[in-house]
Amino acid sequence: MKILVINGPNINFLGIREPAIYGKNSYADLLSLLESVQQEEGISLEHFQSNHEGAIVDTIQAAYQKFDGIVINPAAYTHTSVAILDALKAVGIPAVEVHISDVDAREPFRQISYPGLYCEKTIKGQGIAGYRQAILYLKEKYG
Ligand code: DQA
Repeated sequence: MKILVINGPNINFLGIREPAIYGKNSYADLLSLLESVQQEEGISLEHFQSNHEGAIVDTIQAAYQKFDGIVINPAAYTHTSVAILDALKAVGIPAVEVHISDVDAREPFRQISYPGLYCEKTIKGQGIAGYRQAILYLKEKYG
């Protein structure tokens, strides 16, 4: 099984940005976690991070017929991006949305998720452990 993990803007600043909200784990820690999950679960994981909406759309399009699942934290684009929603719908790959923070407990503008309208499941407020949960969900259902 091949899963693509996509992270949006400022996720590369994990551990630096607002640690009271996003925790102390760095982006490197997240990549280590993905490496562990890959080995423990015997699945193939690739990861991509970008601060640019179009680059995320391009990456989703390039995943067409190449990946069995997508785990996506669109970060701030969660709340604005019809383009990312449309790209997910276009490729039709099962997807799970992850948010490190509990977006439900934050500002009203974080309550809407456009990509979430496509995703089968949303995991929020679990820190970087949420990525493991998202991958396990896809493995159990599609692996
Ligand atoms: C986030 C939540 C978003 O509202 C925010 O813009 C982010 C990160 C999260 O992982 O909690 O950048 O997606």
